[in-house]
Amino acid sequence: MGHGSREIKINKRRLLHDLNAVSRIGLGDHGSVTRLVFSIKELRSRQLLIHLMTQAGLEIHIDRIGNIFGRLNGSNPRAPAVLAGSHLDTVVQGGKFDGPVGVIGALEAVRTLKENKVPLSSPVEVVCFIGEESSRFGFSTLGSSLVAGQVHKEDLANAVDAQGTKLEDILSSLGIYRDNLASLKRDPETLKAYLELHIEQGPILEAKNKKIGVVTSIAAPTRFKVVFTGQADHSGTTPMEMRKDALVAAANLITYIEEVCSEFSSMDKGRVVGTVGAMKIEPGVINAIPGKAELSVDIRSITAEAKERVANLVRERAREIAQRREITVDLLPIRDELPVALDERLLPLIKEICEEKNVPYEIMPSGAGHDAMQMAKITPAGMIFIPSKRGISHSPMEWTDPEDICLGAQLLLETIVRVANEEI
Ligand code: GLV
Ligand code: MN
Ligand code: MN
Repeated sequence: MGHGSREIKINKRRLLHDLNAVSRIGLGDHGSVTRLVFSIKELRSRQLLIHLMTQAGLEIHIDRIGNIFGRLNGSNPRAPAVLAGSHLDTVVQGGKFDGPVGVIGALEAVRTLKENKVPLSSPVEVVCFIGEESSRFGFSTLGSSLVAGQVHKEDLANAVDAQGTKLEDILSSLGIYRDNLASLKRDPETLKAYLELHIEQGPILEAKNKKIGVVTSIAAPTRFKVVFTGQADHSGTTPMEMRKDALVAAANLITYIEEVCSEFSSMDKGRVVGTVGAMKIEPGVINAIPGKAELSVDIRSITAEAKERVANLVRERAREIAQRREITVDLLPIRDELPVALDERLLPLIKEICEEKNVPYEIMPSGAGHDAMQMAKITPAGMIFIPSKRGISHSPMEWTDPEDICLGAQLLLETIVRVANEEI
């Protein structure tokens, strides 16, 4: 990094203080944090960010969905911008770090650059994407997908929350309709790169005693709902052989998903993982046979072929189960995405910065989804991981050492400066 800015250090206390302030919003039992997309808590976290960006003197832009951009201009305001950020929404009863580390880390990096008047040729923008987590609508990376022009009409058809609220209706209330989904797309000409600092959410860095993960690619999910419809009936009077129990059909499928994903779980078979994380049963009472069971299926891999193969096997098995039990099944697609490779020039750059600073790093793929996978479709994208204690995430037990957070933000700062000032 030129201009002697090697000495420019982030303000660790301020970074950790602001991260703490974010994690108090939506704080619940056992230190869990819940800020579901478009909830009051999630809105409050974005308001706090706007406040912090204002204090830092960044130029704020908020798009119609609620993505927030805080800009610091460089010597050439017309040059394409370097974006750095992540998300502030969480899963239900999640942790404090998944998302906020990348947003507040980027904010800390950029306000440090501003205070120290570090010369930048490109503008730099801190970004908070809305709705990265799929916990509410089954739809992940909502904000970044819109910015990358990756939301299509058919994606919205089955995006409904547990209360029956349709994502499409919320979008309409914000002036975003089926026929103008592309209107939030950012012109790629205005972008130089996207950088995201994130917790690893897995056990590799801790196990290998590495401080930083340099991410090569991101596993993308195939997601769909399976709805078995049998016949609700009296649990006391209906003989076993006359039942059309939708929940037992669902149970058969869930067990199969575990089996087939285990079969494809080794590295050479594509490291496939599959989860049924949510289920709705009707009527859902102790004395009635379940007439309807709706389950969410989430299958992921870093290999597109393995993922497709497993997803097809699961769909086939769902039809077989329904046929055998003489009930019906509907398969409702949510989203089917391809794994994404991150930028081949940013990766060696981040690696080089780790080497210069003697930081032990690991080159690794990401099993979790991130906004970077959408941004990679319109601009060079790079990700920096920091260790997760015992690899735990999407849980109140999620933890990352404060020193590791600070190191991650410091490396992000160095990366931002290099990318803003150099040809990449
Ligand atoms: C995001 O955290 C995901 O579900 O991968
Ligand atoms: Mn997450
Ligand atoms: Mn995340």
